Amino acid sequence: MSRLKELRRYVDAELNKMENMDKHNGAINHLYGVSLAAQMIAKKRGLDPEIAAMSAMLHDLAAYKSGSYDDHAHRGAELARAILGELGLTDEKETETICSAIYHHDDKLAVDSPMDEVLKDADVIHHCMNDLSKAVKDKEKARFEALCREFGMD
Ligand SMILES: [Fe+2]
Ligand SMILES: [Fe+2]
Repeated sequence: MSRLKELRRYVDAELNKMENMDKHNGAINHLYGVSLAAQMIAKKRGLDPEIAAMSAMLHDLAAYKSGSYDDHAHRGAELARAILGELGLTDEKETETICSAIYHHDDKLAVDSPMDEVLKDADVIHHCMNDLSKAVKDKEKARFEALCREFGMD
């Protein structure tokens, strides 16, 4: 089994503990949607799509588990470190890359490392394209416009 599949099994089992079915379905939709977008963006930028997908699968898990978005990016990085340590799927450098991407993913107005940027952009793609009838949030506008230009969608 691929390590992405193994991580997804773990995440699926965690999400299955959510009692609210709407929130559960929303969580699956978001994590898998961001994961697909992250793979596309990473591939386009010459970065590792598998590491991008793994960071996406874990990026909001702390919020879903606790029911709160307070400081969820920083808490999420800690949670990801514990999960990756337990599963033993990644080496030290890969774990750092994934945890850094999760740690920074809510800082949408700042520019961080290339893989941090992949996760932020993938998150924005899913927020903006999951339902095209919804307005793009102010803090995501510049990033979404840059992505549309990068992918020839303007
Ligand atoms: Fe988030
Ligand atoms: Fe997210």
